[in-house]
Amino acid sequence: MTKVLKIGGSILTDKTRDNAARRDEISRVAQEIAARPEDLVLVHGAGSFGHFPAKRYGLPLCFSPEGLRVTHASVARLNDLVVKALSRAGVDSLPVHPLSCILLSNGRIDSFALEPLKAMLKDGLMPVLHGDVAMDATRKAGIVSGDQLVTFLARALQAEVVAVGCDVDGVLLSGRPLSEITRVDLPAIECAIGESAGVDVTGGMRGKLQELLNLADTGIDSVIFNAARRGNIVCALRGESIGTRVWRPN
Ligand code: IPE
Repeated sequence: MTKVLKIGGSILTDKTRDNAARRDEISRVAQEIAARPEDLVLVHGAGSFGHFPAKRYGLPLCFSPEGLRVTHASVARLNDLVVKALSRAGVDSLPVHPLSCILLSNGRIDSFALEPLKAMLKDGLMPVLHGDVAMDATRKAGIVSGDQLVTFLARALQAEVVAVGCDVDGVLLSGRPLSEITRVDLPAIECAIGESAGVDVTGGMRGKLQELLNLADTGIDSVIFNAARRGNIVCALRGESIGTRVWRPN
């Protein structure tokens, strides 16, 4: 049973400050994951390690070789912190950098060399991906968000658990989390969905919801949950419906 878990950059970093890792949170997240590491693909957001340099260099609208290099190096540093924390927690994981295995077309994943990742899963290693810059066949270069990675991987691996952890209790309406959401609910609530705190170039909660509704259209449910609350990651990995369930009625 393959599981895909995303931990948002707002958990692992302070998104209001450049390059600010939350080391205690990275360790806590790694320990929670270590309670249920089997058949798991982990995706983490870029947080301030990605959004700050991306914004500074005008990505994804401007083509900047230096911006691509600096932004990738920065998110790869965060990825290294996560992989090392997992190792300290007793989980064998390996970094998978989207820049090196994905080609975008018009901002969407067009091809993804999945064989190494599948081999890792087969041999009990946890692949750890992250939001990244990527080459784009139509726009030269772009940004691939962790949320887009989650939906692509969930489909490609036919994941049975798909959980997206952020720093709020789900999709909030007037401050309260919705227990579930389907595409038909979207127009009524769209304008009330909160913006991300801090700098965000990939769409915040709205972008996340759009990705997961597209995934639900293919018959794969997911949850958006608060990964900052201790214990929630383990519940999400067990497939419990915490936070907001994103689904499609049959
Ligand atoms: C963004 O990744 C990637 C870059 C800005 C390079 P995400 O969109 O997945 O990051 P978070 O979760 O919002 O921090």
